[in-house]
Amino acid sequence: MIKESRRKAIKIAVLGMGHVGLPTALGLAELGWDVMGADDDAEKIRTLSSGNATFYEPGMQPLLTKHLGGRFRVTSDVGRAVADSSVLFVCVGTPQAESGEADLSCVEAIARTVAANLNGYKLIVEKSTVPAITAQWIKRTVIRYARVSSNGHRSNGKAPSRHSRLKPAPEFDIASNPEFLQEGRAIENFFHPDRIVLGVDSARARDLLEEIYQPLHCPIVITNPTTAELIKHAANAFLSTKISFINLVADICETVGADVSSVARGIGLDPRIGAQFLSAGIGFGGYCFPKDLRAFIHLGEQNGVECGLLREVEHINKVRIDKYLKKLREALWIISGKTIGVLGLAFKPETDDIREAPSLKVVRALLLEGANLRLYDPQAMPNAQQELQEQPGRITYCASAYEAARGAQALAILTEWDEFGTLDLAQLYSAMEVPIIVDGRNMYDPEAVRNQGFEYHGIGRKTAGHAISPSSPLKPVARRRAALTAT
Ligand code: UDX
Repeated sequence: MIKESRRKAIKIAVLGMGHVGLPTALGLAELGWDVMGADDDAEKIRTLSSGNATFYEPGMQPLLTKHLGGRFRVTSDVGRAVADSSVLFVCVGTPQAESGEADLSCVEAIARTVAANLNGYKLIVEKSTVPAITAQWIKRTVIRYARVSSNGHRSNGKAPSRHSRLKPAPEFDIASNPEFLQEGRAIENFFHPDRIVLGVDSARARDLLEEIYQPLHCPIVITNPTTAELIKHAANAFLSTKISFINLVADICETVGADVSSVARGIGLDPRIGAQFLSAGIGFGGYCFPKDLRAFIHLGEQNGVECGLLREVEHINKVRIDKYLKKLREALWIISGKTIGVLGLAFKPETDDIREAPSLKVVRALLLEGANLRLYDPQAMPNAQQELQEQPGRITYCASAYEAARGAQALAILTEWDEFGTLDLAQLYSAMEVPIIVDGRNMYDPEAVRNQGFEYHGIGRKTAGHAISPSSPLKPVARRRAALTAT
């Protein structure tokens, strides 16, 4: 329970209301702190202030409803949020620049806004994933620009005049407190973190952050800001490596007739390896892994470190899409003119996020090859509809998995939503024109699906049923047509 006097003393602003900022802000409000959520995207702030979450994240809407207007307020005036707060969590985007390095212009803009509103001690906390040494740049930027504002002018990032250099800026600290939130589990992750990493340069910053997170019970790693920044990069690079490793193992499994799911279980029970992030499939996507991996490689190579290992991780991930398409071609022979049902568009389950989604890469490639697609995703349809403007005539957006399967000559499983695992296979079978499943996420038990009459292709699994054989379970045309009219 947070003391009232401390709640009043520690005013928190979360700068950036995206996939990291919004769950973080609501989590902090739920812990008992007063939080101002700021974002210069006025439309986003309008949506939030009307009580609606700007993206889907399980458990987030109830927290927004509970705290909006109370412990959680929102504003599009980022400068005002900075001026009114003492602890500033920086959660702005760090997109990929052409070179592979992170584009930190939003972080710099925040540093200048802080400088322009430095009306007392501020703790600036980096939460966005940023390359090591960003904290040092934030510090330099705040010092450079703060002298203007300390004279009473709001510089808004303008270069300081000679005049204004006379008065030193108020004190501030920079800390790195990387987030490890997974989309689709962000709220759960916030309240039950595996660890909290605090990269701090001063006892004041450490004490403040420890107090803020005090209600959460988990190990705390205290280090300097540069090391904390590197921890985040290393964590994401390691997890990406695990995924590419198991995908490589899946390819080898296919050549020798082994089963990658059992291999993953067999190695994952070793605590030195761990069972998580060993699901073979069409590869990793999302806003973080691909971008962070590239930025980490860039950071290493820029500093003369050979990063061949990480380049291979990236390469293995890139060719997952081609390998999956090859499977579809092997199953269907000709893609052009075929109708394919697609289950899953989000880059992973429990989110509506389609950024860098492997599923969309598959969808785009299939459209290029002339397929007609029937798409379904439980949450990501509106985002996908906005994104997939090309060849609109060849896409049908469906209201359910069964509808996506209707008349299809193959079903492509691209995101492992729970609801796909519990589909009525008999209903699916009768909806499809040709009962072929190409399971890019190994959702189904091959034997169970084959027993229902499907031709099944998974990732890194036994090759039985791969080739069309005389005993292949293709449906008689007459039965197919009857099934179609019945659905
Ligand atoms: C990731 C990190 O996990 C999180 O700690 C960090 O804060 C942000 O980046 P997120 O991008 O939300 O989180 O997704 P995550 O659950 O890590 O999955 C990333 C991608 O890897 C997804 O496309 C997922 O489908 C894929 N994946 C994951 C696999 O292909 N196999 C696996 O075994 C696990």
